[in-house]
Amino acid sequence: MKAFAWSYLCFLAFVSTAFAAKFPANAWKDATKQSVPGNAVPNKFIVEVADAADIPGKRSLHARAPHEALYHSLRKRDVGFKVDKEFNHQGIFVGASVTLDNANVRPAMGVIIDMPSYASLQDQQKIAQIAGVKAVRPVVRIPGPKPVSMHVVTGVNDPALPPDSESTHILTRVDKLHAQGIAGKGVKIGMISLDTGIDHTHPTLGGGIGPGFKIIGGFDFVGDAFDGSNTPVPDPDPLDQCNGHGTHVAGIIGADPVNPFNISGVAFQASLTSYRIFGCGGSTTDDVIIEALLRGVSEGQDILTMSLGGSDGWTESSASVVSSRISDTGKIVTIAAGNDGSKGAFYTSSPGNAISAISVASLDNTVIELQNATVHGATHDPITYFATFPFPVTQTLPIFVTSTDTTVIDDACDPLPDSTPDLSGFVTIIRRGTCTFVQKLTNVAAKKGSLALIYDNGSGFSAISVGNFTATLIQAADGVFLANAFAAGQKISLSFPQSGAAFGFPDPAGGLISSFSSFGPTNDLFFKPAIAAPGGNILSTLPVPLGSFGIESGTSMATPFMAGVSALLFGVKGRSPSVGTTARTLFETTAQKISSSHTDGDPLQSVAVQGGGLVDAFSAITTDFVVTPGEFLLNDTANFKPLQTFTVKNNGKKAKAFKLSHSPAGTALSLQPGTSFPADGPVPLSTQFATVKFSETSFTVHPGQTQKLTAHFTAPKGVDASVLPIFSGFIDITSADEIFHVSYVGVAASLKNAKVVDTTDTFFGTNLPALGAPDGTFISGPSNFTFVGADIPTLVMRLDFGTPKLRVDLVGPNIKIKTTLNQRDISPVLERSLFTFPNDAKGGSFAQVKTLGPLFEFDFIPRNSDVNDGSGFNAFGISNVFANNTVIPNGSYRILLRVLKVTGDPTKEEDFESWLSPVVGFQAPPPKQS
Ligand SMILES: *[C@@H]1O[C@H](CO)[C@@H](O)[C@H](O)[C@H]1NC(C)=O
Ligand SMILES: *[C@@H]1O[C@H](CO)[C@@H](O)[C@H](O)[C@H]1NC(C)=O
Ligand SMILES: *[C@@H]1O[C@H](CO)[C@@H](O)[C@H](O)[C@H]1NC(C)=O
Ligand SMILES: *[C@@H]1O[C@H](CO)[C@@H](O)[C@H](O)[C@H]1NC(C)=O
Ligand SMILES: *[C@@H]1O[C@H](CO)[C@@H](O)[C@H](O)[C@H]1NC(C)=O
Ligand SMILES: *[C@@H]1O[C@H](CO)[C@@H](O)[C@H](O)[C@H]1NC(C)=O
Repeated sequence: MKAFAWSYLCFLAFVSTAFAAKFPANAWKDATKQSVPGNAVPNKFIVEVADAADIPGKRSLHARAPHEALYHSLRKRDVGFKVDKEFNHQGIFVGASVTLDNANVRPAMGVIIDMPSYASLQDQQKIAQIAGVKAVRPVVRIPGPKPVSMHVVTGVNDPALPPDSESTHILTRVDKLHAQGIAGKGVKIGMISLDTGIDHTHPTLGGGIGPGFKIIGGFDFVGDAFDGSNTPVPDPDPLDQCNGHGTHVAGIIGADPVNPFNISGVAFQASLTSYRIFGCGGSTTDDVIIEALLRGVSEGQDILTMSLGGSDGWTESSASVVSSRISDTGKIVTIAAGNDGSKGAFYTSSPGNAISAISVASLDNTVIELQNATVHGATHDPITYFATFPFPVTQTLPIFVTSTDTTVIDDACDPLPDSTPDLSGFVTIIRRGTCTFVQKLTNVAAKKGSLALIYDNGSGFSAISVGNFTATLIQAADGVFLANAFAAGQKISLSFPQSGAAFGFPDPAGGLISSFSSFGPTNDLFFKPAIAAPGGNILSTLPVPLGSFGIESGTSMATPFMAGVSALLFGVKGRSPSVGTTARTLFETTAQKISSSHTDGDPLQSVAVQGGGLVDAFSAITTDFVVTPGEFLLNDTANFKPLQTFTVKNNGKKAKAFKLSHSPAGTALSLQPGTSFPADGPVPLSTQFATVKFSETSFTVHPGQTQKLTAHFTAPKGVDASVLPIFSGFIDITSADEIFHVSYVGVAASLKNAKVVDTTDTFFGTNLPALGAPDGTFISGPSNFTFVGADIPTLVMRLDFGTPKLRVDLVGPNIKIKTTLNQRDISPVLERSLFTFPNDAKGGSFAQVKTLGPLFEFDFIPRNSDVNDGSGFNAFGISNVFANNTVIPNGSYRILLRVLKVTGDPTKEEDFESWLSPVVGFQAPPPKQS
């Protein structure tokens, strides 16, 4: 099974601190939803079956034959099921999503409340064993987009209007293509947007839907009222007038240049189709994504783009697999890399991790349009506050500072003291740090404060998440000035000019990878993200009822930009599969390398977060040269692929001379030294680089010729393998007027040595893994549970690295097994085993460990983050049934956790990390008589 959490991909900072706080010891108690890792939906599976054509000896080649064969086999095996959706696209995906019903049957003994049941392992195995079944994966829930701040623009004279709406086109040289009249005419882009379709009534998006319009069609798979748990009500109209994310995405691709704000879509002559997969709120499931993708394919879309995903690290989710296969047919599929840059490496999103799709990173725009506040009562420059539009405040208001200590780390995290005045007439000034912004603002609101400025503590000047409060970030120096002036008794007040105070703040991070953009590579060392595009501070369309235009940030915004560039490519080169299958390589090899900072001497940014670099649309579309491949996947030291070949082909009419050279990028030190914890983003870079030898260093390619070359890599020397250093860079192929590159990535360590399970007490104050008790504490010795109500043990654990397989079994209390993690509580007496292992002396193998039966198993689990936001840990409630729903007899047991190391062999016990729980007494009461 494959499971992970999804989220929307526009970005706002939520937590006000850059430092990981320890979680509350009982944080796991609130996490009942985590009884399956990530957001897997209990008992719902996507079953993939072989195409009819692949089933030998099938009498009927009726298109539904594989489905009927599947259902027949399920019934024969006594698997109760309901079919939710059928997929039937030969060559891409044939199968069904099903709900297994016997997995829902609760045991007679013990009434379990609030505990989602685990999907039946046994049924899953039964399904997997059916002839013709290729894969069984869980259905995954995808939370819906959260509201974004929006502004009702008053007209062309609105002072809030960014003057520089085409900067992203200049950065990527899209403007040069537009100047030649290239704008994607005749290309069909199917948009599968994370949220809510498109407002096709928007004049800038053509003002209508259907033949002859920009929006040529669409489909609503769910309906306005769908929230992920109720029944979807599909209809043909993907109209979005309640959310806006999909409309913003559509404008980035297709906004008509004739609009009050002079913005234009990257491919404003392309035809758009909108597949709506979210209602106005709530979540959806990935079987809906697959349905939408397959409809896009059958409706002839050339490009499919998805601004959605969830942090993962693996390439195996159903939606990833389907996206990858669609890419292999010559369509271009662009998918967001994710907004988890702050959570470190090996954490890109799925389905963006789809092996053949284009995973898109975000680059910060060079200028951020912000607002200035005016200072009264002292001579001080205007204070720039992080808002695109002026605060709707017309009075001049005095300031109130919650702490005059300008180094306070947790300002306003606790309720404000009784001495605090009524803050309704003040601008409250707070220092950033420790708790969430909303918590600080809630404390201010308790004193009737409704307007606040939070000053930075060095974490970075950026957009922040403030819920529905009127508040934002200012820079540290301005906050210190205000706090000091207040402390000195100066009567300072602020006003918020409603016009004339817009300021093109030169983003210090402009032109660099956005700090929120997720870090790859995947856990199996595929190259994600593939390419970067502008995704920070993008002005685009919003639904008319929501204000028509607005600014958002995220890999959600970078992704449609790449869909637009892809449309320009198809428009120029023709919409053939060969153009589609080579597009990613073309974009990667013609991209612009991105530095890690604006400081001279700092290395190039890691390829693990910039991919091949910032897309250069003009070079990709106009060059006569083809460099192949775009990526060298060097793998880890245990699987090192040092020798790589590549070719340079001349499709033009003139010979050209090239030189080869090596531009190493910073080596990303992916773990915190001395720990197995991932280093938070920005992941620190070292300048210990790989070295490369080439077969030749200069050569000339004549028209029609192909030059074959080799590069021989040596991993960086002197790096500390224990921090899993990700080395990367570029092989540059440079002529007098053009430069191409092949990007490479590898790990200077063996991933099999990476510690997977967190065994420290850093997060919960107790060594993990641990069993939680109903009172929120962890048990440290033998404990009894009745399995009535909430009286169940909960396995609380964290993964520092992703695992291909996590398995939990019930074992006898006196089992003799050499576990690898945090051994405790096994007295020498108990170690005199009741069980004997045939293979004990030799260490045994996975199957030979004598268990009483499996409780549950999950495949391809992402690692955890260090943030208590649902991704920080896993909490598995243990019920008194085996995976097959057979009731476990009362008695004493232990719980055995086994977690496979990356690149480990699942049949070998020694490739697992294992942990044995304290003795657990199963003391369920006898079943009630009815
Ligand atoms: C839009 O472009 C036109 C023509 O270049 C210019 O006159 C106008 O001021 C621009 N409008 C805005 C809002 O930038
Ligand atoms: C905004 O404030 C900044 C910083 O004080 C200042 O440099 C800039 O000139 C101001 N711009 C406007 C339009 O007020
Ligand atoms: C602001 O949000 C909070 C929490 O979501 C909610 O309780 C409150 O009613 C909201 N207030 C307004 C004015 O919308
Ligand atoms: C790296 O090697 C491992 C082990 O052989 C393999 O599973 C994985 O697919 C390889 N990765 C790539 C990108 O080839
Ligand atoms: C668990 O229950 C058994 C049977 O009632 C009892 O003997 C044992 O002492 C109990 N153990 C704990 C730790 O409460
Ligand atoms: C269910 O699983 C348990 C543990 O593996 C096994 O002992 C039992 O026989 C199974 N029950 C059925 C009905 O297959």
